[in-house]
Amino acid sequence: MMATRAQQRPERAEPARSVEQGRDFEFTSADFARIRELIHRSAGISLSDHKRDMAYSRLARRLRARGIETFRQYLDLLEAENDPAEWEAFTNALTTNLTAFFREAHHFPILAEFVPRRPQPVSVWCSAASTGEEPYSIAMTLIEALGDSGARQASVLATDIDTQVLAKAEAGMYQFDQVKHLSPERLKRFFLKGTGAHAGMVKVRPEVRAMVRFEQLNLTDRDYQLRSQFDAIFCRNVMIYFDKPTQAQVLARFEPLVKSGGLLFAGHSENFTYVTQAFKLRGQTVYELTRDAAGAARTPSRPAGHSSSTPAGGVTV
Ligand SMILES: C[S@@+](CC[C@H](N)C(=O)[O-])C[C@H]1O[C@@H](n2cnc3c(N)ncnc32)[C@H](O)[C@@H]1O
Repeated sequence: MMATRAQQRPERAEPARSVEQGRDFEFTSADFARIRELIHRSAGISLSDHKRDMAYSRLARRLRARGIETFRQYLDLLEAENDPAEWEAFTNALTTNLTAFFREAHHFPILAEFVPRRPQPVSVWCSAASTGEEPYSIAMTLIEALGDSGARQASVLATDIDTQVLAKAEAGMYQFDQVKHLSPERLKRFFLKGTGAHAGMVKVRPEVRAMVRFEQLNLTDRDYQLRSQFDAIFCRNVMIYFDKPTQAQVLARFEPLVKSGGLLFAGHSENFTYVTQAFKLRGQTVYELTRDAAGAARTPSRPAGHSSSTPAGGVTV
């Protein structure tokens, strides 16, 4: 007789299926392996072993919300129902959204120096926007570099896979603590101070928010339907969550979206040199699209080999 799918599951063979101390739900190695497989397939994210507790605690909330008793049942339901809302909640739960205003500050003077030399209006894509600090920092830099009227023509597209962080980003409200390191000039020019119920908060000024458009976008989608080109793409601190083949695919999709001479900004621990031939390192974690690559739009870059001696790529987190 043929074994059913459930009978074939490896966790059947696990002797210890008791709930671990301090945990409300049974969570086996097979459950974690399945979560890793699903989040890699849906969002390109490679979860390393040490993210096991994080996966448990974040997804346990989904089990409670759905009144489900085991991880196995939850994952069965996720796959069987194929409900986009549950997939969205699953993905939102497993992303890491750490960010800050003017994070990796050396990039912003480079952007400020670059944009006035470009044909106007300039457009920038912030492709892992998280809660908005990065795209707003870009918009503020455009205002400083181009002046109020020049910046009004400019645009920033801010995308992320996580719908929850995008909602926060769109609101543009932050704790004062998150902006206290900015200069008094920037604070005055770009933020409104909260009063009453909003004391201790700041809100990004409407003219800055008007420059930024937020949309959900999965960088690992085969075709995410972006048709316009950008003078610069910010793709910072997200590639570290992808393995090297995924990084190569993401970069190949960027090529036709960057205008000739356009820039790609990467995170501090991300090195694309070994992943793509199309983007050449121009300065510290800043890449420039080579003219050849721009001409050969939609030609995927050659994925790098899988040598473990190459830096950066394929790091799991
Ligand atoms: C650590 S944050 C980096 C935020 C910002 N770029 C920075 O450097 O401060 C990583 C962001 O990447 C997003 N992300 C993860 N996988 C993604 C994917 N497949 N497509 C788009 N965004 C993704 C996460 O939701 C998260 O907001």
